[in-house]
Amino acid sequence: MGNEEVFLRTWIFSFVYRFVRSITRLLFRIGQWTSGREGDIESIVQFGDRNLYRTDRWLGRLAFQYTIPASIEYELYDLRFKSPLIGASFKSDLNILEIWLKMGLGGITHKTIMHKERKGNQRPRLQQVRIDRQQALINSIGLPGMGVDRFSKTLPGSVLWDHKRPIGISIGGEDVEEYYSNFLKIESELKHNDLSCYFYELNISCPNTDTGMAIGDSTNELETMLNRIRPETSVPLGVKVSPDWNDDQLYRIGEIVRSYSEMFINSGNTRFVRSVDFDLKEGSMPRGGGGLSGGPLLPRTLGMIRIFRDIGIPLMATGGISTVHHVRAAKEAGAVLFGLATALIMDPYCVPRINCGLARS
Ligand SMILES: Cc1cc2nc3c(=O)[nH]c(=O)nc-3n(C[C@H](O)[C@H](O)[C@H](O)COP(=O)(O)O)c2cc1C
Repeated sequence: MGNEEVFLRTWIFSFVYRFVRSITRLLFRIGQWTSGREGDIESIVQFGDRNLYRTDRWLGRLAFQYTIPASIEYELYDLRFKSPLIGASFKSDLNILEIWLKMGLGGITHKTIMHKERKGNQRPRLQQVRIDRQQALINSIGLPGMGVDRFSKTLPGSVLWDHKRPIGISIGGEDVEEYYSNFLKIESELKHNDLSCYFYELNISCPNTDTGMAIGDSTNELETMLNRIRPETSVPLGVKVSPDWNDDQLYRIGEIVRSYSEMFINSGNTRFVRSVDFDLKEGSMPRGGGGLSGGPLLPRTLGMIRIFRDIGIPLMATGGISTVHHVRAAKEAGAVLFGLATALIMDPYCVPRINCGLARS
């Protein structure tokens, strides 16, 4: 398949995707405005997901099947990533995760799993905003999910494994005990099913717990957790840090993480912002704010990567990445893998575009 063909296909489908998304967003906003309801963009995301399924069924090979150039592969310990682009942890719909893999992600991370089934916060809880002409999201979804029991039974049978690309399992919890027991349940099912192409990511930076605290706020708790989890598995283990933490806290976390084997750091998660600072109406987000993601995070992401660079642990850069230029900047700062979340919502065709761009550089 020639480069021109990939370029043309990507351009056409990307244009259609963004066009349909903009029109849908406009129609939803008009609907919400005329009905006087306070809305969010979650309905648009769900509508988009349904369109992706339909397109996959009828036009999947043409619309979503992209080959990854051989020269951009990266190996993290025993895991081979055909592309250094990784789907960040934010989505649990396995069909959509598979579509993004087909588009050329080197690996995909499932949304953070908690112990119990959760509905998440009340809607509205996901807003799109523009900051300095860059698209961004603010979310306070509140970690909805099926809970670890169902998840650990469902994941081993997923088609995601057929792609032979590393699957990230993001683990959350209210305390060390919950992280540990969630991890043990998943690990025992994956081992039982002879699966090995995966890694864990400990989401130590999610404030969406009932206490509002994150494990990474306390380095003692982080150490206790790593002491318990690390000896129980041989697959790579990552910790996902917050851009809200100050540089000293990040450095301390880096020092702890490097004393264990086969570790990596993912920097980072969303940054907490208040709705009032973004002209969002009262009631447009639960708890008066949420996690900012997308383009505006990039400078902080690069700054965080530089903090960890000298510690000598493999680094994944997540936050504000959507173009090959962003990836190059994060690579120069010291990252080896690159996580994408908001960019996949805004235009997943950035994946084949970045892969091609990386192969050229
Ligand atoms: C709607 C939404 C839900 C998210 N849920 C999770 C989650 O469950 N676990 C997690 O570690 N990060 C979660 N994130 C954070 C993303 O994984 C990512 O770290 C963050 O959005 C920054 O990357 P981006 O600028 O590419 O979006 C979520 C982000 C969004 C937008």
